[in-house]
Amino acid sequence: MSTLLPEEIQHLVMMAAHAPSVHNTQPWRFAPTSDGLRVECDRSRQLGVIDPEGRELLLSCGASLHHLQVAARALGLDAEIAVEVRDDTVALVRLARGVPATEAEVESAVAILHRHTHRGRFTDEAVSAEDLNRVLLAVESELGLLRVVHQDELVAVEVVVSRAEQSLQSLDGYAGELARWLWHGLPDEDRGDGLPQDAIDHDPTRAESLEGRQFDGGPSPPAQDPGCGAPDRRAAYLGW
Ligand SMILES: Cc1cc2nc3c(=O)[nH]c(=O)nc-3n(C[C@H](O)[C@H](O)[C@H](O)COP(=O)(O)O)c2cc1C
Repeated sequence: MSTLLPEEIQHLVMMAAHAPSVHNTQPWRFAPTSDGLRVECDRSRQLGVIDPEGRELLLSCGASLHHLQVAARALGLDAEIAVEVRDDTVALVRLARGVPATEAEVESAVAILHRHTHRGRFTDEAVSAEDLNRVLLAVESELGLLRVVHQDELVAVEVVVSRAEQSLQSLDGYAGELARWLWHGLPDEDRGDGLPQDAIDHDPTRAESLEGRQFDGGPSPPAQDPGCGAPDRRAAYLGW
């Protein structure tokens, strides 16, 4: 750690905070250690109604770990991750200088700054077998599981998704929890959290019939400042 520059740590934490998280709660914290960073979950950001066991909170922290590791490689750093879920700790990340980054590693890190959740319209253009295969390989390389749904299975998936949505909506406190995270995050912190306005799909011409989570029905969105893009994400770093 001593050989790492404060700017490098700052950059890694910023990149980790670009990860996707449930309701954009960004339920992570980063603390310096003698040889890297400790990633903690922030239970004050857990969705107690729809995520009482903290599974989605942990998945979100896992996504930030992934981004941290990818960003480290682009700086020529090796991030060795020891997952250690205990109390609020999620993982310990040891950082050490490694071989210089390859072009592909830099490209992956740059993609972090451009990625975002797509909630708008999909076209009915088929995804090519080649692209599908690239996605499958990428998922496998992260030991993930991707199940491609074929046309004849769509109705079954629609039924499962819509039942899941109905059962979530019937939970006590569901609407209040959603409203708390719509358009903004926790009031005392300004870190670009909370669900953005594009979470609600106003497009009546959606090509696909599959419904996602329903974000409508909450408070009205604030007027948007034209020309102002997504807010910067500021991470909770306990070292500065
Ligand atoms: C564990 C997890 C669950 C999520 N669930 C949903 C969901 O049900 N519906 C949805 O539209 N987005 C979902 N998202 C995407 C988040 O809302 C999104 O990551 C967050 O708003 C930040 O936006 P970004 O991904 O564009 O950076 C989920 C993300 C994670 C990590």
